[in-house]
This record gives sequence, structure tokens and C-alpha cells, in this order.
Amino acid sequence: MRNDFLWGGATAANQCEGGWQADGRGMAVVDVLPQGENRLPVMQGVMDYRTLPQGTRYPGRDGIDLYGHYKEDIALFAEMGFRCYRFSFSWSRIFPTGEETQPNEAGLQFYDNLIDELLRHNIQPVVTICHFDLPLHLVEKYGSWRSRAVIDAYLRYCEVIFRRYRSKVRYWITFNEINMLMHLPFMGAGIRFEKGENPLAVQYQAAHHELVASALATKLAHQINPDCQVGCMIAAGSVYPYSCRPEDVWQGMQKDRETYFFTDVQARGAYPAYAKKLWNRSGIHVEMDPEDERILRENTADFIALSYYNSRCVRTDGQGEASGGNVFASAKNPYLTCSQWGWPIDPMGFRITLNALYDRYQKPLFVVENGLGAMDQLTPEGTVSDDYRIDYLKTHIQAMIQAIDQDGVDIMGYTAWGCIDLVSATTGEMSKRYGFIYVDQDNAGCGTKKRIRKKSFYWYRDVIAHHGENL
Ligand code: BG6
Repeated sequence: MRNDFLWGGATAANQCEGGWQADGRGMAVVDVLPQGENRLPVMQGVMDYRTLPQGTRYPGRDGIDLYGHYKEDIALFAEMGFRCYRFSFSWSRIFPTGEETQPNEAGLQFYDNLIDELLRHNIQPVVTICHFDLPLHLVEKYGSWRSRAVIDAYLRYCEVIFRRYRSKVRYWITFNEINMLMHLPFMGAGIRFEKGENPLAVQYQAAHHELVASALATKLAHQINPDCQVGCMIAAGSVYPYSCRPEDVWQGMQKDRETYFFTDVQARGAYPAYAKKLWNRSGIHVEMDPEDERILRENTADFIALSYYNSRCVRTDGQGEASGGNVFASAKNPYLTCSQWGWPIDPMGFRITLNALYDRYQKPLFVVENGLGAMDQLTPEGTVSDDYRIDYLKTHIQAMIQAIDQDGVDIMGYTAWGCIDLVSATTGEMSKRYGFIYVDQDNAGCGTKKRIRKKSFYWYRDVIAHHGENL
């Protein structure tokens, strides 16, 4: 394992900051994701948020008020020994509509303070530039990433943050889970489908624009600071064939390619042959500027960041159950148990996924999300005995260490997802908790917001102190 291995935790602005109207912040996609049964169709881009009933609650707007608690929260991260903290900037805090010529100084000031606080504790900032929070104005005016105009808006934003934090931020991630565009298009990329559109054509056009934006941002970051490192990021999780039936194996390969499509471009610099064939077959024409292929080729990612929660499984015999609770369609794998939200638990799948990515690209990997969403019980004594979370993390970290030590996979760091409880992205619930730190807040947003160390807090502190060798 690298000596400078980056142990830490990860969050996203839209799930924890709150302060949605502070500093003149503008509205973002995540501000209109409702709680309840309408959340999924809105995230999928098949229901228009403007048709939501009055009285709808939008839990992302308030988060857990990290905006008002960041000093206290960072002090707790430091107590666990974090070497890095992955978080995201809220784009619309810096450019409220995405189209201003000058950034919003008050919004930047918040990130100045947050970053300075991290550095004061010797915690490296790892910044996700866009984590599901495109300014809503860009959705309404341009139809989001289906338009090339959004590339310019993104680069204007990137230039401001790369210059301002040149000497303070070394690790950047261009888009969180860029492949979420194919699964939850509105949450992932602000894409809402119009009647009569071919969704796949819209998704691939938007993907092209995001990929060009990511490549140009990588170029710009290196021009501004040759020492910085810029990563791409995917929601990963290898796909298993349910059986050795060749049709299942073939289907598994196709499903993996839905994810590899993005990293193939971002890590290798060119569209894979299978994608071009798919577009031809499906009558999809992706509009490109003449220089786009060169831009993609010349500006590949320095590292591949990934989230891993579970493996996936496919079967083609039309039998069996689907695995519940996951946005990636998957057959139920009978060898695995599941979380309370139906997500399979598969530490060996983590090792498999890490090996598959490293075999394919030979670029450093950065695990920037992994963890267990679970219902926690605060005891009358004010503690949370989250042994189930410790078990999940322990077996997954062990699998990662095997990938490093026994398989030779180069991994830069590990940041546990939702290191402090936050609002769930897919369900909007507070009760789906991932943290080492409990936040006293319920699904309705009520509670004192008091921060409480869980049992896993002390456990993770030890893991970091021993560099994972005590597991
Ligand atoms: C990833 C996202 O998809 O999974 C996070 O990058 C999200 O934003 C995490 O929170 C876990 O998903 P959920 O739905 O349990 O919050």
C-alpha cells in the first residue's frame, strides 16, 4: 500500500450543506428532487418537477446543515485521522444561474473557509466539481447537457475554482458518477425527456458533451497547476452472469460496457468500437465538433475514481427475482445477503471490480465511495452500536487491501461514503445512514442536528491509525 494512501471520508454538497438560499446561491437540479413516491420518476427524467404538488418537501435543500456546522464536522473528521476529505462544490453557489460573467464572491468565501479549515487540520481536500447539482437555469434554458452551451458554462466555473484554489486543492474529480446519466438522467445530468424523443439518443449526446467538458477541464486544470491530478468517476460494480450459459455471460459483458463506455473514453481517450456500432444499430447520431475526438484523446484522466456498493447480476432466462432497491437493474444473486434497502453485500465483488478496472486501464484508482446505508438506533445512553456497518466496511477494506497487496492494483486512497450521516441520494431519506457520525435529524428534517460519535467512529480511527494493518 502507498505510504501516502489517502484515508478519509466523502460527502456531497447537495446531501449535506443546506444553506440553499445563503450567499445568493441559485437553484440546482438537486433542489427540486422531492421526497416520497415522486422522487424516482423525477430522478429518471420522466416526471417534470414543475408538476409536483404544493407542500412537497425537498430534503436536499436543508441537508444536515454542514454549512452551519463545518468547523465542528471537520474537527470530528480530524479526530478520526482523515488524511483527505472528498466533498463537492455547489456549482450554483458559485455561479447561481451558471451564466454569470463573474462568480458569486460570497459563495466562494464559504469554500475558502471550508478548505482553510481542512488544511489547518492537515486534511487534503478532494473536490468533486459537479455532484448531481447542475444549476437549474441551465436545465430550463438549454435542456441541460444536451446542449453544447453547458460545456462553456462548466469551463467558466472550472477556471474560477482552479485558479482560486490553485495552491490549496491538488485532487479534482470532474463529475460524480458520470454513468448515472444512463440510469437516473435527471438527477445525474439534469436531463428531462420530451414527448417523442429517443431517450438513448439524448443520453449519448449529453454524455458526449460531458465527456468533452471533462477532458477540457482536465486540460485547463493542468495548465493552471501542472501538479494537480484530475480524475474521472464512475458508479462501479462488476456484473456477474447468473449462470455459465453463454447468453448470460454475453449479457453481463454488455451491461459492464454500459459503465466502461465512460471510462473507456476518459481513461483511453477514444470511443470504443462497440459504442459506435451500438449507435449505428440504434440510429443514433451523436453530434460532434471536428476537434472533439482530438480533445478526448489528448486529455485523459490522471486517475479513475469509483464508487462501489455492490456487484450486479444478469440472467437471460426470464426467471428469478430482481434485486431490489438499486437503480442498476440486476437479478438477485442467491449467494449474497442484502442491506435493509435491498443492496447486495459483496466484498469479494469489490476486489473483482478493482482488478477489472485496473486490468483494463492500468491507471491509479481512487475509491471515493463505499459504505453501508442502514437504520441506526440511538440508545438512551446516546450511543450507536453499528457493528453491522463495521462488518461491512471491514470486509470491504480487507478486499481492497488484498487487491493492492496480492493483486498489485494501484489504489491512491479510500474515502468512506457519508462519513457523517446525510440525506440519501436515491430515497431522500435521512434514515438511510452511512456515517461514523450520527446526526440527530429525522426524515421530516426535524431534530437538534447534534453530532454524535458512533461505535464505527472509533473503529475507523483505529483503521486509519494502523494503515489498515489491524484488520
Ligand atoms: C452514489 C452517490 O450513487 O451513492 C451518492 O454518488 C449517494 O450521492 C450514494 O448518496 C449512496 O446512495 P444512497 O441512495 O444510498 O444515498
